[in-house]
Amino acid sequence: MATSIPTAQAQTFPSKPVTMLIPFAAGGPTDVVGRLVGEHMSRTLGQPVIIENAVGAAGTLAGQRLMASPADGHVILIGHTGTHAAAVSLNPNLKYRPVEDFAPVGLVNTNPIFLTVRKTHPSGTLAEFVAWVKANEKAASNAHAGVGSVSHTTCLLFNTVVGVKPNGVPYRGTGPAMNDLVAGQVDYLCDQAVNVAPQHRAGTIKTLAVASAARATALPDVPTSTEAGVPGFKVEVWNAMFAPKDTPAPVVAKLNGALKAALADATVKAKLNELGAEIPSAELQEPAGLRSFVGAEIERWAPIIKASGVKIE
Ligand code: MLT
Repeated sequence: MATSIPTAQAQTFPSKPVTMLIPFAAGGPTDVVGRLVGEHMSRTLGQPVIIENAVGAAGTLAGQRLMASPADGHVILIGHTGTHAAAVSLNPNLKYRPVEDFAPVGLVNTNPIFLTVRKTHPSGTLAEFVAWVKANEKAASNAHAGVGSVSHTTCLLFNTVVGVKPNGVPYRGTGPAMNDLVAGQVDYLCDQAVNVAPQHRAGTIKTLAVASAARATALPDVPTSTEAGVPGFKVEVWNAMFAPKDTPAPVVAKLNGALKAALADATVKAKLNELGAEIPSAELQEPAGLRSFVGAEIERWAPIIKASGVKIE
């Protein structure tokens, strides 16, 4: 009897539109990836996937929303390196445990992250920027998507390595932060390929380095942090899909099947690659693979956050 209920639920799932919670503002990297994948998933699931930007507390409010949602698969979430890994060490008041309190569906993508400056900035290289930010620390403005977001933690690592404490300027996501960088209102922003690639190609910003070991395929003209002289500046960002904790396994399997179908689709793949996002391995697209990956990422971020000395009070 106990097993027939989830099976019956899975047969009728989804019986209504699925809401996909995006923890940051529309137009940013999480939103762009979520919409792209969600549109394809709606075709597999036979129901619309509706995007809801549930913004707040550097993306962690969306996780709380998911925890309070019925465990029937009709509300899902795109979490990332910030909300489901770094937040654990950064935020002693975090209201959820990323591994224990959700049902992982699958890793969606990984995404290189870059240090970018406004087009009118006097620095043309990372070395010049390091010299500038050291000399202008008090005046420098560093845009980010809230304390604990990946734009924040990535630039925090850069600032820590370089030894500066600039003025942080928080936004509801890097969509609006990037708009202000393009408008020349802020000096610099650490942001993901999905947001950076279109602006870089249009020449509206300057992209000084990618925080990865190798150059990004989508932006091969941008040097790595090591090539640019700051080897300690290395971060990889990921987005992952979660459902509420007690979602029946057959429902999670249906969501996972729809996610994998989206990631295997040639058009979705081409679009993600054009935006600089990478498709994860088959293992990480599975719920079990994602569960152990998130656990490892929480461990990996703990010493980085500790060394930075930053904590959300
Ligand atoms: C966004 O989608 O706006 C970003 O992923 C936020 C962030 O920097 O974490």
